[in-house]
Amino acid sequence: ARRLRVSLLGCGAVGAGVLAHLRSRPDLFEINPVLVRNTASRPGNGPVRFTDTLDAALSGEPDLVVELLGGAELPADIMADALHRGAHIVTANKAALARHYDRLHAAARDGGARLSFSAAVGGGTPILETLDRLAATGGAARIEGVMNGTANFLLDRLAAGDAFDRAVKEAQRLGFAEADPAADVEGHDAADKLSLLIRAAFGKAVDPAGIPKDSLADIDPAAVKSARDEGMAFKQIGVCELSENGEVKAEVRVRAVPVEHPLAGARNEENRFTLVHADGGEITLFGKGAGRWPTAAAVFADIMDIHRGLSEPDRAEPAASAPSRAPALLRA
Ligand code: HSE
Repeated sequence: ARRLRVSLLGCGAVGAGVLAHLRSRPDLFEINPVLVRNTASRPGNGPVRFTDTLDAALSGEPDLVVELLGGAELPADIMADALHRGAHIVTANKAALARHYDRLHAAARDGGARLSFSAAVGGGTPILETLDRLAATGGAARIEGVMNGTANFLLDRLAAGDAFDRAVKEAQRLGFAEADPAADVEGHDAADKLSLLIRAAFGKAVDPAGIPKDSLADIDPAAVKSARDEGMAFKQIGVCELSENGEVKAEVRVRAVPVEHPLAGARNEENRFTLVHADGGEITLFGKGAGRWPTAAAVFADIMDIHRGLSEPDRAEPAASAPSRAPALLRA
C-alpha cells in the first residue's frame, strides 16, 4: 500500500492518542513535524519531530491533514485552504465545523478532497454513521442526547456530593473538558454538536449561537444531590426535531429526569443518544463521549478509511458513504 504523508495539527489529549495510532503503522503513514504550541516541552520522540510553525507542519504537500487544534476560526481557515489544495481532512473540531460547515464542504468539493469528522459528535460513539444509514429509509425525525461528556461527568460528581470546582479540575485532568471548560459548562459544545446532528439528520443549517441553552453554573448543586434520593438524575440534554412545516427546533437543557429515562443511565463521560426514526422506531446508542482513546480511535478510523479509499480507488465511493464502524450498542 502507498504511504500517506500526514500532517498532525495539535497534540493535546486527543492528538497524542492519534499520534500513537499513526506511529503504530509506519508502513502506511509518513508523519510530518507535528504542530504544537510549545516545542520546548517536546524534545521529539524517535522519528517524530515537533514544530510550532504551521508551514513546517504542512510542508511537502501532505495527502492528509489531521486537525485537532482548539478554537474555530483559525482551524477553519487552515482546513479550507488545505482542502482547496486537494489534501484530505480528518478533524474532531465541532466548533469549527458547526460555524463553517458550508465553506468547508465547498472547499472539499473544489479540491476533490474528503472531509471526515466522525469523532466530532459522540467521541467514540458512531452517531453520525448511524444517522447516515437511517437516511436510506426516511432519516431521523427527532434526536435527543447526552452529548457532552464533561457536563455529564460534572453532574454525576455533584450528585455524589463533590464540589463543582473540584469536579471541573478532575474533568480537565482526565482530558474530557475543552481547553476552556465554559464551553462544556454553558452548553456551547453541546450546541455545536446539535448543529452538526441537524445537518446530518435534516440537512438544515442552524447556527449554534442561536440554540437556547441552560448553563450548569445556574443549577443548585444541592438540588442535584437531593434529586438522586428521589429517583431522579440531572442531565444536560440536547434535543432537535424537524416539524411538519420543515422548521427545526433545538435546545440544550439541564433538567432532572426519572432514573428510568433512556438517557438517565449515562455515566461519567458517557454519551447517549435516542434517535426517533421517521417511521416511529427508536434507536438508543451509547459509548464513551470524551477522552483520549475513544476519541482517537474514531479519528484513526476516519484516517484508515481515507487510506483505504486512496489505495483502492475503486472502493473510494462506497467507502465514503459507509459507516467507518458498526453501530456498537453495548460499547460502554
Ligand atoms: N469536551 C467534550 C465533552 C469533548 O466533554 O464532551 C468531546 O467532544
